[in-house]
Amino acid sequence: MRWIARLAALGCVVFVMLQFVRPALTNPPVAAEIQAPPEVKAVLKRSCYSCHSNETALPWFDQVVPAYWVATHDVKMARQHLNFSEIGKLPAAAQRAMLFEAVTQIQLGAMPLPRYLKAHPEAALTPADLAVLKSYLVPFGKTAVSDAVTIAAADTQYKDWNGEKTPMPAIHAAPNGIEFFRDYKDWKAISTTDRGDNRTMRVIAGNDIAIRAIESKQIHPWPDGAAFAKIAWTQMTDNKGVIRPGQFKQVEFMVKDKTKYASTAGWGWARWLGMDLKPYGKSAAFTGECVSCHQPVKDNDFVYTMPITRTGGTR
Ligand code: HEC
Ligand code: HEC
Repeated sequence: MRWIARLAALGCVVFVMLQFVRPALTNPPVAAEIQAPPEVKAVLKRSCYSCHSNETALPWFDQVVPAYWVATHDVKMARQHLNFSEIGKLPAAAQRAMLFEAVTQIQLGAMPLPRYLKAHPEAALTPADLAVLKSYLVPFGKTAVSDAVTIAAADTQYKDWNGEKTPMPAIHAAPNGIEFFRDYKDWKAISTTDRGDNRTMRVIAGNDIAIRAIESKQIHPWPDGAAFAKIAWTQMTDNKGVIRPGQFKQVEFMVKDKTKYASTAGWGWARWLGMDLKPYGKSAAFTGECVSCHQPVKDNDFVYTMPITRTGGTR
């Protein structure tokens, strides 16, 4: 039985020695903290700053190797993606856009990292915390009520859009050569979203190949030929306080072809603006912003929308 005691003693020695293997975790000065009201910062401080700032303070149990190694690695990675102690030097709109992206990550359940929450339950966001962030992102507080004329104009426009009374104008291809998808209004709706910070309402639709892939659960990855449309209207508030679609803003597409579009994450990206469907982007390089903003869902084949099937989630 003595060997057990010896082994335990050896284990203790190794454990103590490992404590000295410590990658440095420094807190550089807070150069330019995010500019946001105190209540917004308070939420971020409690839930995100331990990784996404230069004000990292590890609790004692994270000071102990191997937890310490995990924590330092997380902080380094997290700061690379988003550092609330440094983004204050960006234009206000860029800071808001990053915060919007952060809220998306929270709502997806991706942030704070789920494994971190197990040991740090105090970092979890309550619905009230989330509401604080979201209401800050709504630019003008309550929307102004639109007058009857504006509402009628939007309704007429919607009928035109929907009924195709006027023939569609000649539509130019996107700068990367992708042609407009003239049949997209016949695609099936998969989801709707509304975005408080820029006041748009959106419908996401999929073509037949996408819908069949959802039904047969073949979406990791999506098959070639699958396509999505995201159709956006500006938000309007009527005199009853109902928020409803106003002017048509844009429609954008993703079409899968892992070979043809290998250089843009396997998807062809394109966007057309306004009722006259003007192609978006000065050159084919516009796709860079699409891919980088869809990067957080790369494990989901770069698609944000999670279809809901009859048997529940597909993940
Ligand atoms: C335990 C540390 C930790 C905490 C706490 C944490 N994050 Fe992160 N976060 C990370 C790491 C690590 C990454 C990089 C993930 C990767 O590269 O896969 C990351 C990435 C991100 C990204 C970028 C996603 C991308 O792929 O571009 C956003 C946005 C984000 N976090 C927001 C938040 C917000 C908001 C909070 C607080 C509500 C938060 N995080 C809390 C560790 C953390
Ligand atoms: C600011 C970040 C951002 C940028 C930039 C961006 N997207 Fe997206 N996109 C999203 C988010 C978030 C969703 C999820 C649906 C939603 O929130 O409306 C989405 C959804 C979509 C969808 C529906 C399928 C899906 O992934 O859910 C299409 C199609 C799409 N985007 C096309 C584009 C195209 C084309 C571009 C570039 C011209 C682009 N996106 C740029 C964030 C972005």
